[in-house]
Amino acid sequence: MTNATLRATGQDDTQFGIGQERACAELAAGLTRPQASIAPKYFYDTQGSKLFEAICALDEYYPTRSEREIFRLHGAAIAEAAGQGAVLIDLGAGNCEKAASLFGSLRPRTYVPVDISTIFLQSAVAQLRQTFPGLAIHPLGMDFSETLALPAIIQAQPQKLFFYPGSSLGNFGPLQALRFLRNIREQDGDLLIGLDLLKDVAILEAAYDDALGITAAFNLNSLRHVNHILKADFDLGDWSHQAFFNSAQSRIEMHLCARQACRVSWPGGARVFEPLETIHTENSYKFTRDSATELLRRAGFAHIMSWTDPQQNFLVCHARAA
Ligand code: AVJ
Repeated sequence: MTNATLRATGQDDTQFGIGQERACAELAAGLTRPQASIAPKYFYDTQGSKLFEAICALDEYYPTRSEREIFRLHGAAIAEAAGQGAVLIDLGAGNCEKAASLFGSLRPRTYVPVDISTIFLQSAVAQLRQTFPGLAIHPLGMDFSETLALPAIIQAQPQKLFFYPGSSLGNFGPLQALRFLRNIREQDGDLLIGLDLLKDVAILEAAYDDALGITAAFNLNSLRHVNHILKADFDLGDWSHQAFFNSAQSRIEMHLCARQACRVSWPGGARVFEPLETIHTENSYKFTRDSATELLRRAGFAHIMSWTDPQQNFLVCHARAA
């Protein structure tokens, strides 16, 4: 994999597929708004990607397991709907495990894993090439949270299948989600997407505040990453993990909460936080079968099919561009 393929702009040793200047401007803007925020993509430096893998193995974090169960129980029907031989574009591929588990049934002709965590992606792809030596793999290290700008060579391919598992769409608000799905729809691909379903609040909140504190570490790690990118001086000891369900908005919110008054500075800026003031780090929207179907329809998709696990924890949908 070349650096050009990874499109890791900024420094050569960057592990993050977004330009340094752009990232700094975005971070400074988020940190100085009345409700401070750090976009969830900043969770995913190499360490953050590893912490997310650990989250997926937690007892409390049901989405990964439930989605795997859906593919196990309904894999044949899903493959029937999705067809074989597509260019499989895996959005937020991470360790590429989910897609790899479907290679046998989907038989992609090319696999295009896309992730912002470029070094992590690179090592996942190196392993994948050993396991699947015959498969064409075209990794892309890039930020697609604003727009999905695929290289022309990928965009021009017929029979594209966009794979967007794990309820990552849930990081977007309703309007952004619609815009993002339309953006995919415009690229003339089918979509295989996993979405987390609304459920008992205690189960939802436990999934984002596990007993081992892995999600807390994942959340706090974004400050380490921001210190690195922005040259900021966050003291991680000043901050505590917070996760709660916002039922009016049907979303889990994660925040970092200031344990005491503190001042954070970076080249060109600073911010004072009062005790208990928070930095909003993530929204994770929860769907119903109806809200998911409606969203896909409004984005212009047709022939929407969906599958769930016996506990109705999670939903996998396949939708056609036309
Ligand atoms: C990768 C966005 C789907 O929202 O469940 C896991 C990220 N955050 N635990 C999610 C996450 C805290 C995850 N997504």
